[in-house]
Amino acid sequence: MVLPHRMRQVVFDGAGGPDVIRIAEAPVPQPGPGKVLIEVVACGVNRPDLLQRAGNYPPPPGESDVPGLELAGSIVARGEGVDLPTGENVCALVGSGGYAEYALADAALCLPIPKGLSPIEAGAIPETFFTVFDNMFTRGRLRAGEWILIHGGSSGIGTTAIQLAKAFGARVIVTAGTPEKCAFCRTLGADHAIDYKTQDFVEEVGRIAPRGLDVILDMVGGPYMQRNLSILGLEGRLVQIAFLQGNIVEKFNVMPIMLKRLTLTGSTMRSRTPAQKAAVAGELREKVWPLLNEGRVKPVLHATFPLEDARQAHELMESSGHVGKIVLVTGK
Ligand SMILES: NC(=O)c1ccc[n+]([C@@H]2O[C@H](COP(=O)([O-])OP(=O)(O)OC[C@H]3O[C@@H](n4cnc5c(N)ncnc54)[C@H](OP(=O)(O)O)[C@@H]3O)[C@@H](O)[C@H]2O)c1
Repeated sequence: MVLPHRMRQVVFDGAGGPDVIRIAEAPVPQPGPGKVLIEVVACGVNRPDLLQRAGNYPPPPGESDVPGLELAGSIVARGEGVDLPTGENVCALVGSGGYAEYALADAALCLPIPKGLSPIEAGAIPETFFTVFDNMFTRGRLRAGEWILIHGGSSGIGTTAIQLAKAFGARVIVTAGTPEKCAFCRTLGADHAIDYKTQDFVEEVGRIAPRGLDVILDMVGGPYMQRNLSILGLEGRLVQIAFLQGNIVEKFNVMPIMLKRLTLTGSTMRSRTPAQKAAVAGELREKVWPLLNEGRVKPVLHATFPLEDARQAHELMESSGHVGKIVLVTGK
């Protein structure tokens, strides 16, 4: 296969709002050992991309400045030591570079496109599925029959978390910002949805699960910290994956941690080593890919935009007007 020498990609002209987004030309990258070159069909947009654009989430050392943490497409070249054949259609978790016509990925972080899904849908899978599976089940130790509260239920992360928690037998409460988002979360399987703008989630959880929650998956942070601790039950686990309302908590009472033997944990996916991410990929392949192949869980797509309209995609995500995922398509 003859590959072009140059490609289109998205770059940020410095740190700032969506207006720093522009399309640029760049050489098509070459895969080194263990890597594949993927002709990208689709790349999911994730909230961390907005943080990176604003200058608050720089790519880890060794990663390019090109945004994009996940993609789907077909393998067009391979580096040394890679078994995957060219022509294979895959989706992949990447540390950067997804917003482009061609991108490099670790072969160990490529997974097959689930049966019945298009590459556009598959491009919306890796970032949230890696993040949710690891945080909810490995760090949060969520088990069948337990109660979990998922803040931001209508987000890309939230829509994935609802489906996986239900598929593994948990009881799910979510928070979301409008009645429509709450209704959508219920159609995805949430047992209860709390409109956090008009209802007090601490009171509502107290009514729904009076013995307290087993796990909370939180992306809000800040003022939610003390409130989250107050509604965890004995041996409850708070899993922090982001802090939309701030990472500093000026003052909080640690007593509930001791009295209820709570665990406070959390993680970021991007900063992990390829081997650590490959371990998560292995678990997903074994435990979650069968569910995707059977259609029991699937990515929720809100909108697609051509690569050159990445700015509009970021504006939509910033408005929080979406439910589920926003995806960029290259036209490949
Ligand atoms: N730790 C990790 O490895 C990791 C990986 C990926 C993503 N994340 C984080 O997970 C979060 C979700 O990511 P995503 O890509 O799924 O984003 P997303 O689809 O844009 O979802 C974020 C949602 O949060 C809600 N929200 C926005 N601002 C808020 C605020 N100030 N207070 C409370 N809720 C707010 C909005 O829904 P409402 O209308 O309901 O308010 C919005 O839809 C982000 O914070 C992201 O940084 C972490």
